[in-house]
Amino acid sequence: MGTAKSSAALTLLRRLPPEKAHALSLWGLRHGLGPRYREEHDLGAVLFGKRLRNPVGLSAGADKRAEALPGWSRMGFGLVEAGTVTVSPRAGNPTPRVWRFREQGALVNWLGLPGSGIEPFVANLAQFEKHPERGRLFVGASIATPDGVADELTMLASACAPYVDYLTVNASCPNVAGHHGNTQSAESTTSGVPNERTVAAGNAPQADHHPRDGGHTEAAQEAARSQAQIVAQHIRAAKRGGESRPVMLKLGPTQDPQVLTWMIDAALEAEVDGFIVTNTLPFELRSLLANADGPDHHHDHHHDPRPDRGQANAPDPFVTSPASVWPRHDGRTVGGYSGPRLLDIAAWMVRRVRAAVGPEMPVFGVGGIQSGPDAVRLLREGATAIQLYTGLIYKGPRLVSEILEHATAVGHPQSPFRT
Ligand SMILES: Cc1cc2nc3c(=O)[nH]c(=O)nc-3n(C[C@H](O)[C@H](O)[C@H](O)COP(=O)(O)O)c2cc1C
Repeated sequence: MGTAKSSAALTLLRRLPPEKAHALSLWGLRHGLGPRYREEHDLGAVLFGKRLRNPVGLSAGADKRAEALPGWSRMGFGLVEAGTVTVSPRAGNPTPRVWRFREQGALVNWLGLPGSGIEPFVANLAQFEKHPERGRLFVGASIATPDGVADELTMLASACAPYVDYLTVNASCPNVAGHHGNTQSAESTTSGVPNERTVAAGNAPQADHHPRDGGHTEAAQEAARSQAQIVAQHIRAAKRGGESRPVMLKLGPTQDPQVLTWMIDAALEAEVDGFIVTNTLPFELRSLLANADGPDHHHDHHHDPRPDRGQANAPDPFVTSPASVWPRHDGRTVGGYSGPRLLDIAAWMVRRVRAAVGPEMPVFGVGGIQSGPDAVRLLREGATAIQLYTGLIYKGPRLVSEILEHATAVGHPQSPFRT
């Protein structure tokens, strides 16, 4: 699609409510109406022994049914994570459940893992196996068990394994009440009142007001450890079903080194094959949006983290008064934030995870990537590949080519760990 046509398409999509716009985009992609990016940018990324066409990925949630894989590949992505898929069809939460914040380049979503279940998902993956684009795309399947039934992960992994290059246990969807890996702990979900101190990275306690120095209660620490153990069980369950497919773990945001260490250690113990950081950020962790800049941030990055954000100096309500902008349902704040303010958090987490797991293990950086420099920043922090979603909604498909061209122009974005 030419630039004029694609910007007309973006303008149209912006006028539609978010979920309608999304459905229409998927329909277009399925019918070959998406753009085609023909250049190749081999940036040297290797995942689980396979050379990637490029390390720019579509993050989970954009293609929950795996229905438009050829379209994403034509758009230029080297990697797509389809899903998150659950065993049974699910309606998800009541609408409205996706809110745009255009000025901030952000979204809040409270979808709650809606979907058609595993059957159409696997049928779509199977169909893609025969497609000419299959050889050009690295394909992952994100799986979850909303009720915390480990056997479901075994079943999901076994159904997807023949058709995918890796599996992801999504242990961090903030939108499913009672989800084992929900970022809200047992304490916060049973009471129905989210507790600021019991929410975090894949599920552990997070000191909302003192994110850098721990400060969480003993009960919250206990919850964090036990949730790390549950996540470990879920990784094992996925590995049992996944034949020998690699199993990655997707975490939610945190800047608490202790919480992150517990999650990493438990996952490694369960023989996880890689990490994805980060998922969306729930209201309870809103303070991280303001000081989204990790403790060791100053070490090694020299550029403006938000280079082409014209609004950089405009007040951002997600920082100044998140409670006034955050969507509510029945008087309760709901959903998870995605957008530019995740970038610092993702960068900090990539750096920490990379340092913990060594140079070889795949780590994907995701969260707030909306420009070439954003993507290169996470690659330089040690990400093997990057993934994005919200940036695609605001910038359109040209974000993919912009990233590839920028990464090529600045040279091989080799991590300091892979020299
Ligand atoms: C509408 C929407 C739906 C999402 N659904 C999923 C999902 O099903 N599984 C998942 O692991 N992450 C899901 N995510 C999170 C994204 O994959 C990603 O981790 C997050 O949005 C941060 O990246 P971004 O700022 O580039 O969007 C979703 C995000 C959005 C905005």
